[in-house]
Amino acid sequence: MTDGFNRNINYLRVSLTDRCNLRCRYCMPEEGISKRSHSDILSLEDIYEIVRAAVEMGFSKIRLTGGEPLVRRGVTALCRSISGIDGVEDFAMTTNGLLLPEMAKELKAAGLMRLNISLDTLDPDKYRQITRIGRLSDALAGIAAAEEAGFTDIKLNTVLIGGFNDCEIPRLVELTEEKPYQVRFIELMPIGNACPFDDKAYLPIHTVLERVPALEPVQSDGGVARLYRLPGAKGTVGLISPLSDHFCSGCSRLRLTADGCLKPCLHSAEEIPVRGLHGDALKERIAFAISRKPERRCPLSCCERSASARDMNRIGG
Ligand code: GTP
Ligand code: 5AD
Ligand code: SF4
Repeated sequence: MTDGFNRNINYLRVSLTDRCNLRCRYCMPEEGISKRSHSDILSLEDIYEIVRAAVEMGFSKIRLTGGEPLVRRGVTALCRSISGIDGVEDFAMTTNGLLLPEMAKELKAAGLMRLNISLDTLDPDKYRQITRIGRLSDALAGIAAAEEAGFTDIKLNTVLIGGFNDCEIPRLVELTEEKPYQVRFIELMPIGNACPFDDKAYLPIHTVLERVPALEPVQSDGGVARLYRLPGAKGTVGLISPLSDHFCSGCSRLRLTADGCLKPCLHSAEEIPVRGLHGDALKERIAFAISRKPERRCPLSCCERSASARDMNRIGG
């Protein structure tokens, strides 16, 4: 479907849960979230119905997110049903990877096509520091498990944080020499109540090109990242710059939260509830959410926080 600014909206990001087995500092508060009762979140059947309605309306790209989508019970069965919907051309998940050693094979068999996995550092102490509770070896085992299960086009998401992981830019880029990964650096976004960082943490994405001048631009894959490659490398490097160079004019996204709201824009507080709607009423509400997409997001910088009313774990990126 086309929105009011002539953008083709065909990408639905579906958050399956606010819960997570990590507590990344830029994403959620240390104490985690208060457990919601089952009746507060969409059932897997509800989610399937909303995804199917969206695909019938022309959405072709579906991504499951969280919190951490793999902690939601029944996720593999949901993948099997979504991958069976006629019209789903791209079906992916964004995960921290910790549960992939147990689940990668079944997800692949269930028709999930692609995985984007968070990896902010290659230093075990720093991994613990940024995730508060995680072990780097578990995340690396998850990436290895994804490869073994046959996933290709794996993307690794690194949130760039000045004074924390910018010293690791060259090492992270080097991962692409031997592996066909897309290593993506994402500008830190000031969103929600989490994100307790000072101004120096908000590095512009061109820092990556300054630190690794050998990177050469290559053709985009149609996503939000600008792509680069080291000469002769198997993989690519993606730069995602939501702060310094917003990509709203190419936005193709609508977001569904775990409690059943559509978000026309990541950085706006507007939410459109779809819980309990079926058939034409559901489709009308999805069309309304598309019509509410703003031309561009509100101002966002190290001193202007996102207008979104949610922490990132309650949106899913
Ligand atoms: P691909 O389909 O593989 O291109 O995935 P993706 O980049 O859409 O998904 P992923 O969940 O890996 O997104 C990476 C990060 O980019 C997100 O977590 C956000 O931090 C950022 N991002 C994605 N979409 C948007 C958006 O619409 N606005 C802003 N500001 N940031 C976004
Ligand atoms: N700024 C930038 N990226 C973020 N992510 C989560 N919180 C933030 C933030 N404040 C990214 C994670 C993950 C994806 C779901 O969102 O790195 O890859
Ligand atoms: Fe969990 Fe992802 Fe948020 Fe980290 S960024 S706390 S892994 S949802």
